[in-house]
Parts: sequence; C-alpha cells; structure tokens
Amino acid sequence: QARKLFDYNIVLIGFMGAGKSTISDFLRTVFAMEVVEMDQIIAEREGMSISDIFETYGEEYFRNLETELLIEMQSRSNVVISCGGGVPMRERNVVEMKKNGRVVLLTAKPETILNRVKDNHDRPLLEGNKNVSFIGDLMEKRREKYQAAADIVIETDGKDKLEICEELVHRL
Ligand code: S3P
Repeated sequence: QARKLFDYNIVLIGFMGAGKSTISDFLRTVFAMEVVEMDQIIAEREGMSISDIFETYGEEYFRNLETELLIEMQSRSNVVISCGGGVPMRERNVVEMKKNGRVVLLTAKPETILNRVKDNHDRPLLEGNKNVSFIGDLMEKRREKYQAAADIVIETDGKDKLEICEELVHRL
C-alpha cells in the first residue's frame, strides 16, 4: 500500500472540456492517486450513458446523484474527484465539495473549450450547441459560482498538461 500524499481529496471543477479528466489521468499516473470521475461512476452505477440518464430520468435526478456521490467521498482521502461541469451550480454541492478537500477550478476560453469538446457526443447540454457563442454564454452564467467555489484557480489556455499539473501541485 503506497503512502498517501494528501489527507484530503482534490476536487477538480470547471466547464466541460476545461481539462478535469486529462489532469486527473495525469495525477493518477504520476502520483498513483485514485481518481473518481463523477460522470463515469454515475454512468456505471446507472448502467447507462449520461445522455440516457438525462433523457430517461431528467436532469434533476442526475444532479441528485452528483450530490450523493460528493457526500459519499467525504469518508475518503487522497482521491482526485473529477466533477461534472454542473456540480458547483448547486449551493449544497459547494458545501459538500469543501468538506472533501481543496477545490481546484480549471478555466479555458470558449474557443479552447470548443476545440476540446467538438468530437464528443455524451454531453447533452452541448449537443446542437457546439459554437463559441453558446459556450461563452453558458460559461458566463456559471462564472460567479465556479469562482466562489474554488480555493485555487488555474488557467489552462496555452499550457500543456505537465505545466498545468506542476502549477496545481505547487499551489496545493
Ligand atoms: C455537465 C457536464 C458534464 C456532465 C453533464 C452535465 C454540465 O460533465 O456532468 O453532461 O452541466 O456542465 P463534464 O464537465 O465532465 O463534461
């Protein structure tokens, strides 16, 4: 059993395509940290894709699963929790994220986001909306809550994943 690096969890937040999964993968590889990819766990447990969960049960149902998972993770430590992009929008979730550990916000310009999400089709909020103006508007609506939830903010535009991880580890 490897020594634990952190006695708390690292909670990654940010818009779809901000790089949460990429940075999580890197932390898993470099520091052998466990990663909980919220979307992936929820999809596995429900036995369907995120798009199908939205379609079958509605967004509220999905949002409740996110809150429950955040609470469940509070009994753990040294885990990277990669949150779905909508998690910080619920006030309750901000409280539950803070109880997990350090909340790290990854940001990127709408142009960068568009580039990163354009070939993915399991983001129901973006289907049919893959353009800079939709992404920019939704990002603007979320900005304040993202910023308020974050302990650390890292801009990712023009940086590679090594640079982003160095900055993250340095500032934890
Ligand atoms: C969402 C982001 C997605 C996923 C769902 C809703 C959002 O996660 O949870 O499609 O509201 O921003 P990613 O940020 O991992 O794409």
